Amino acid sequence: MEILHDIQLQPYNSFRTRALAKFFCEPESAEQIKEVLSRFPDEEKLALGGGCNLFFTKNFDGLVIRPAVKGISLLDETADELTVEAGAAEDWDGFVDYCVRRGLSGLENLSLIPGTVGAAPVQNIGAYGAEVKDVITVVKSIDIKSGATVDFDNGACRFAYRDSIFKQMRRYVVTSVIFRLKKSFVYRKKYVDLNEELNGIDSPSLAQVREAVIRVRERKLPDYRKLPNAGSFFKNPILTFEEKENLLSLCPEAPVFPLDGGVFKTSAAYLIDKAGLKGKREGKVGIYEKHALIIVNYGTDDGKKILSFMQSVQQTVSDRYGIKLEPEVWVF
Ligand code: EPU
Repeated sequence: MEILHDIQLQPYNSFRTRALAKFFCEPESAEQIKEVLSRFPDEEKLALGGGCNLFFTKNFDGLVIRPAVKGISLLDETADELTVEAGAAEDWDGFVDYCVRRGLSGLENLSLIPGTVGAAPVQNIGAYGAEVKDVITVVKSIDIKSGATVDFDNGACRFAYRDSIFKQMRRYVVTSVIFRLKKSFVYRKKYVDLNEELNGIDSPSLAQVREAVIRVRERKLPDYRKLPNAGSFFKNPILTFEEKENLLSLCPEAPVFPLDGGVFKTSAAYLIDKAGLKGKREGKVGIYEKHALIIVNYGTDDGKKILSFMQSVQQTVSDRYGIKLEPEVWVF
């Protein structure tokens, strides 16, 4: 396996910001990951997937490990379920397509999310009422500190909204993910956008749901290959009772949903939109015109510009509504 020096990371992050990695490698197996970890014990490490949920503001003075572990295999089959393992480097949407074509359900709502299979559990990717944690049984990884193989069962992954042990600790390189998928499919009307898109179809097929998700996403979300971005930039905020009351006194029509534990979720897109920021630009960075939760790059290669735009959005929303928006995207 080749170890490259001073590699430009611009092609490896969907915001297309420039930064050099001191060392860079693309190991094709768990053994190769272990080998490279033992060769560079003292370097800082960063495991990179599709780079669709992060951007760089400075050079990375360490070793970037971009796993190239490929392959999809069927592990186990029962009367109504199939267990499938996919390598971390498999393209996420390619894998969803593979499953949908074989009539396997559970991933269809997560169609067209950019990135790799290995990054899916890190973020616990979610869309249209589904989260990937609902179908993951095991995440296989290598511990960056010890070089050991560590398999996490679903509970050990500490999945939460856009969060997991992999995101919290940044200590594991995911090598493959095991999913348990259903051989049958029943559509559950969980998400209004999707129901509207399927208007007129009572019991859509798996393929019809996937196509509807693709249409909604293509309409609302920019393609990073044409307009660099990292999807939703902020998490939907969780509010205390007092924060929720304050928001409703300022905006009585704000979307607010009760969660367990006496807290409430609101929509970051709503807050940014309501603050008048939708479509706003500062130099070559701005809020996407069709969706307020997406920060887009109109032509800078400097991540610091994106960072300062992010901070100005946070400041405006905090000044207006007393709510701190937390980025979903990783800033390096
Ligand atoms: N809204 C506005 N203005 C806008 C857009 C949305 O006010 O410009 C309000 C509307 O009230 C709308 C609500 O925000 O009903 C929610 O919008 P949307 O349904 O688009 O969902 P979201 O909360 O903005 C989340 C995920 C997306 C996922 C969609 C669909 C997060 C951070 N984002 O967005 O995930 O695709 O739901 O399920 O949870 C991603 O994580 O990168 C991502 C794209």
